[in-house]
Parts: sequence; structure tokens; C-alpha cells
Amino acid sequence: MGLTKRDTACVRRATAAGDGCADVSIAGDGLILREWTDADVDAVMTLFDDPEIAYRLPVASLFDAAAARDFIERAQQARVAGRRLQLAITADGREPQGEVMLNLESGSVGYMVGRAYRRRGVAARALGLITRHAHGLGFDAVTVEAELDNLASIDVARRAGFQLTERAPAMVEDKGRRYALHAWVHRMDRP
Ligand SMILES: CC(C)(COP(=O)(O)OP(=O)(O)OC[C@H]1O[C@@H](n2cnc3c(N)ncnc32)[C@H](O)[C@@H]1OP(=O)(O)O)[C@@H](O)C(=O)NCCC(=O)NCCS
Repeated sequence: MGLTKRDTACVRRATAAGDGCADVSIAGDGLILREWTDADVDAVMTLFDDPEIAYRLPVASLFDAAAARDFIERAQQARVAGRRLQLAITADGREPQGEVMLNLESGSVGYMVGRAYRRRGVAARALGLITRHAHGLGFDAVTVEAELDNLASIDVARRAGFQLTERAPAMVEDKGRRYALHAWVHRMDRP
């Protein structure tokens, strides 16, 4: 199930008009997930200008300032249109350590953490937070898609309570590489 009409309208209005639907900020587990701002260009560049990120995610290989500005602008546009919620992962609302993304149309979630912040449980905690948020918005099933050899990503998904589905993998082509993304699912607890 997707968003209710009210949720979608709120997501659509929020960034554009600032009319009472506050910018999304999700706090818990020692993290604050907050929206990207224009002040994050340098941080986005540092986080995403990494061959491993370019290998795993559909982002530019050379992640310069222009790519970072474009990334932030697209995130803001996707939010206003109610398509995606892309949130910077922070400890205190300031320095971004990575990103979690919720696709507001499909309920799928993606994540990345910058090299300097890895192996501290950042991704697993951020995934837990965004998954609860997605269930709260009405998504019964939240999904993560990962390659079978992306052991770090799979462990993160497992830790957050996701289970591998038997769904046929989605085939993706990006930067000359063709690969299979297998779906993991987290279902809403029912009393
Ligand atoms: C996958 C990724 C988000 C993990 O971020 P992270 O914050 O370091 O992950 P966590 O600290 O929450 O790790 C949780 C557990 O996952 C496993 N794990 C994480 N990184 C690992 C690695 N590089 N190698 C092996 N296991 C790993 C460990 O079991 C870890 O727990 P531990 O540190 O107590 O042993 C990060 O490596 C990344 O951004 N990779 C590139 C982008 C990507 O692949 N995104 C996912 C696309 S599907």
C-alpha cells in the first residue's frame, strides 16, 4: 500500500510552500535523518566521490561539485513531487554521514554511508528508522534491493529485520555493467 492522499499532499506541499507540513526529520537510535540542503554540496561530494559508491549505485563516477548540486536539486524536486524522500543521515542534524532514500511510490529503500563513517552501525540504524517511518506512512511491505555479492548491504538489511524474497531479481544496466538486484522485504508487524 502507498501513501494516503493526505500524506502525499503533505509531502508535495512541504518543500515548495513551507505551509505547515514541516520538513521531514526522523530521530532515533542516535541518529537524525534530515533533508538535504544547498549547504550540503561539499559533504555530498565527499560522500559520493568514491569508486565503490559509483560501482554499486546509479550515480556519476566523478562526483564533483556540479554533480553534488545536481544531486541535491533532484532530491528536492523528487520530494516536492512526492516521488522520493532522500534524507541525509546525521548524528545531530548537521554533518551528513550518508543517505537513506525511501521511494514514496514503491516503498523501496536504498542507503549508502561514507567511508569515514562505516562499521559503526550507521546504515543498519538508519535503515531501521526509515523502515519504521515507511510503515507509519502506510507501506505494509518495505523493500531493499541488493546484489548477492554486496555482503555489507545484505548484512545491513538482515540486521534491520529484512528477509530475502523469491521474487525474480530486477536487472539493471548502469555505467556499462549489467547486474541483478534481489529483493529483501520487511513487513509491518500486526498485533
Ligand atoms: C553497505 C553500507 C551502506 C554499510 O554501511 P555501514 O554503516 O558501514 O554498515 P553498518 O555499520 O550498519 O554494518 C552493519 C553490519 O553489516 C556488516 N558489514 C557492514 N559493512 C561491511 C563490510 N564492508 N564487510 C563485511 N560486512 C560488513 C557487518 O556485519 C556490520 O556489523 P559489524 O560492523 O558489527 O560487524 C556501506 O558499506 C556502503 O555505503 N556501501 C556502498 C553503497 C552500497 O552498497 N549501498 C547499498 C546498495 S544495495
